[in-house]
Amino acid sequence: DWNMPDYVSEAVERIRAEVGDEEVILGLSGGVDSSVAAALIHRAIGDQLTCVFVDNGLLRLNEAEQVMETFGRSLGVRVIHVDAADTFMGHLEGVSDPEAKRKIIGREFVEVFQDQAAKLPNAKWLAQGTIYPDVIESAGSKTKKAHTIKSHHNVGGLPETLNLKLLEPLRELFKDEVRELGIALGLPHDMVYRHPFPGPGLGVRILGEVKPEYADILRQADAIFIDELRAADWYDKTSQAFAVFLPVKSVGVMGDGRTYDYVVALRAVQTQDFMTAHWAELPHSLLGRVSNRIINEVRGVNRVVYDISGKPPATIEWE
Ligand code: XMP
Repeated sequence: DWNMPDYVSEAVERIRAEVGDEEVILGLSGGVDSSVAAALIHRAIGDQLTCVFVDNGLLRLNEAEQVMETFGRSLGVRVIHVDAADTFMGHLEGVSDPEAKRKIIGREFVEVFQDQAAKLPNAKWLAQGTIYPDVIESAGSKTKKAHTIKSHHNVGGLPETLNLKLLEPLRELFKDEVRELGIALGLPHDMVYRHPFPGPGLGVRILGEVKPEYADILRQADAIFIDELRAADWYDKTSQAFAVFLPVKSVGVMGDGRTYDYVVALRAVQTQDFMTAHWAELPHSLLGRVSNRIINEVRGVNRVVYDISGKPPATIEWE
C-alpha cells in the first residue's frame, strides 16, 4: 500500500513548503541515507541545495570519483568536493587506539564541514539522512549508552553551533523504503544496495596507526575482494564484506626470492541487524581467487587470511 510516485511527490511538496526559498546544506558521504536524502531534496529545490562531500583519505577505491560522477554530473546536484586527506592523515599520525582514531576522524569531519558551511552564509538549513531506526536509537540512547562498545561517528554528529534548522526528510522511513525511494529518484542500483560502510571508513580497517601507504594497499585489496564477490554473485548474499589491513609482516617466496610483506584479512558476514552476525561460508574457490589476485596484484601483500569469527564474540569490524 506504499505508492512510490505519490510518495515522491508528497515528499517533494513537503520539503518545498518547509524550506521555501531558503538554502540547504547537506553532508554527502556516498552512503545510502545521505545519498537518497540529497537526491530527494534536489528533486524538490534544485540548486537551493549544496552538498559537501569530504574526502578524508579513508574512502574506498574510486569512491570520491563515483560520488562526484553520480551527483555532480548525472543528477546535476551542486556538490563541493573537499579533498581533506592530508589533514585527516596528519591528525591521525602516531595514533593507534581505535576509539581515539574514531574521535579524531569525527572531530575533523565537523571542522571541515564547518569551514565549508561558513562559506555558504545564506544556508539556513542542515539536511541529514536520518532514518526511522536512527530516530528510535537516539531516543533510547540514554539507557543504551552504558552498553556501547564502539562510539559511532556518522555525518549525523554535527553540532548545534552551526545554528541551522534541521531538515530530515527520511525520518519516517525504514532502510528498505529508503532504498526503494533511491531507485525511484534515479540513483544507481549499486549505490542504493551497497553494503554499509562505517563513518571512520578505512580508519578502523587499518589496525593501529593509519598511514597513507597502508590505506593505498587496503583500497586495492578491498576492491579486488568486492569485485570477485560481485562476479561470483555473492555480494548480495552477504550483509557486509571488506578487507582489513594488518600491519604485520610475514615471510613468503616469490620466484627465486624471499618476501617479507604485510597481511590482509578478509571479512564477510551475514546478519539481519548487525548486532549478531555469522561469518559467510564463501566457496573456497572464490576465496582462492581473491587471495591469488591480491597477492599478485597488490604490492606489499604476500599473505591473505579469512576471518571465521562470529559476532559475538568478535565484532564485525576489527576495531
Ligand atoms: P561492529 O564492528 O560493532 O559493527 O560489529 C556493527 C556495524 O556498525 C558499523 N560500525 C560503524 N559505523 N561508525 C559507523 O558509522 C563507526 O564508528 C562504526 N563502527 C562500526 C560496522 O561497519 C557494522 O556495520
